[in-house]
Amino acid sequence: MSATAFAPASVGNVAVGFDVLGLSVHAIGDRVTARRIDEPGVRIAAINGVVRDLPLDAEKNTAGMAVLSIIRDQQLKHGVELIIEKGIPLGSGLGGSAASAVAAVVAANALLSQPLDKLALLKHAMKGEEVASGSAHVDNIAPSLFGGLVLTVGIDNPNVKQIPLPANVRCVLVHPHMILSTREARKILKPTVSLSDVIWQTANLAGFLTGCFTGDLRLIGESLEDVIIEPQRRVLIPGFDAVKHAAKDAGALGCSISGAGPTVFAWLPVASAERARDGMVAAFKAHGLGSDAWISPLEPNGARLID
Ligand code: HSE
Repeated sequence: MSATAFAPASVGNVAVGFDVLGLSVHAIGDRVTARRIDEPGVRIAAINGVVRDLPLDAEKNTAGMAVLSIIRDQQLKHGVELIIEKGIPLGSGLGGSAASAVAAVVAANALLSQPLDKLALLKHAMKGEEVASGSAHVDNIAPSLFGGLVLTVGIDNPNVKQIPLPANVRCVLVHPHMILSTREARKILKPTVSLSDVIWQTANLAGFLTGCFTGDLRLIGESLEDVIIEPQRRVLIPGFDAVKHAAKDAGALGCSISGAGPTVFAWLPVASAERARDGMVAAFKAHGLGSDAWISPLEPNGARLID
């Protein structure tokens, strides 16, 4: 008995919701096949695709740990073998560890006689994400599992809300060929924030969400700006300012770091998306970095069984 699931990449934070807001992007993702085996625990049989050099020890692997969490919680007698197919580059800021954990729990869930609901799967996938990044944030797990623009309130008993997506907007993603570790990008953040920045960022998050609920692109354009995290992390990404400038120049509603970076994302009206992509790629090139780029529609679809 086996099942295969696909889980999409995601943009963590979406500029204004550090650790609580995320957006699924369907251009790329990870696949995991889960097979029931007699021996207990999780056996990782293979890791293929764009990343292969990941731990085979289930306790140290995001997909492995997420499925171990299900096995322990459900006190299953059988074990699970996993084959992981990575479509998301390592350390790219596109939620690769989350996508592997999410695809693994969705595939393993299909092997259960009484499948778990999505909120239970979210908690198990979080155990996997913790292995990779050292903290239990959900801003990649939740959109990869539920799909679309997702706000998560609370950690122990999370409320997960899919936010309406504005029409005729595209998400441009440009991934420069370099690796940034989420752990490192979190370590550099200052532990305190000034009151004026908190006020500004709170207004931006509220404005952005209101803009999404009401389809108000002007309000989205005024509020899709990170005044707390981006100013601290931008130095980790060569050419970031020029890339952002190129996106804004092409008419971006907003442009910031995807998750912990180095991928940079921008929201654009459909008609300007290609121009922004080309400008962003050229800006990275001018700073000596090759890149991959995608234009993703904003869609509310999350992880799914494909076999
Ligand atoms: N919210 C996390 C961070 C996402 O920015 O550190 C990591 O993918």
